[in-house]
Amino acid sequence: EAFLPVAFVIGYLLGSIPFGLVLTKLAGTQDIRSIGSGSIGATNVLRTGRKSLAAGTLLFDALKGTVAVVICGYIAGPNAAMVAGLGAFLGHLFPVWLKFKGGKGVAVYIGILLGLFWPAALVFCVLWLATAFTTRYSSLSALVASFITPMFLWWFGHLALSALFAVLTLLLFYAHRENIKRLQSGKESRIGEKAQSI
Ligand code: G3P
Repeated sequence: EAFLPVAFVIGYLLGSIPFGLVLTKLAGTQDIRSIGSGSIGATNVLRTGRKSLAAGTLLFDALKGTVAVVICGYIAGPNAAMVAGLGAFLGHLFPVWLKFKGGKGVAVYIGILLGLFWPAALVFCVLWLATAFTTRYSSLSALVASFITPMFLWWFGHLALSALFAVLTLLLFYAHRENIKRLQSGKESRIGEKAQSI
């Protein structure tokens, strides 16, 4: 129990590493925050045209969630793992280093799921891909997949995980509030489309 705050801090610190920003800076592209949606996530990194950078962002943003959960789970058990997951998600969305302006949480959501109950991460990816292939909206795909994930966890009897991911999904929807408005007004850019700068 005494470890829980430590798990939160470990999660937060790992989650707050903005890999999209770090990788694009290392590669010397234009500041990712001034491109497309201005987000530091893999979808927006893809708008630089550098697919490998986008893939790296997706991978490392996901893995920081997995690593936080696995390390803390190993040290102090399942509760610590969940608290670390919450910390990592909040760290990604609200990193102190970037004046609390972080990413939208999709990759790290998948990484945390992977560390806590990997079949759910698989289901998330299938739902994301199915929606993306039909609509070509990255944001909508994440909204659909994350809406269903807590229900899937509930269905499989993982009630604590279901509650945790219900909270993460609410935060993810909050982080996507501008995307939701653009989807409603038909202004959201599709995957592979040149984004309208906002
Ligand atoms: O779902 C996250 C991402 O797909 C949305 O990113 O850059 O289009 O706002 P962006």
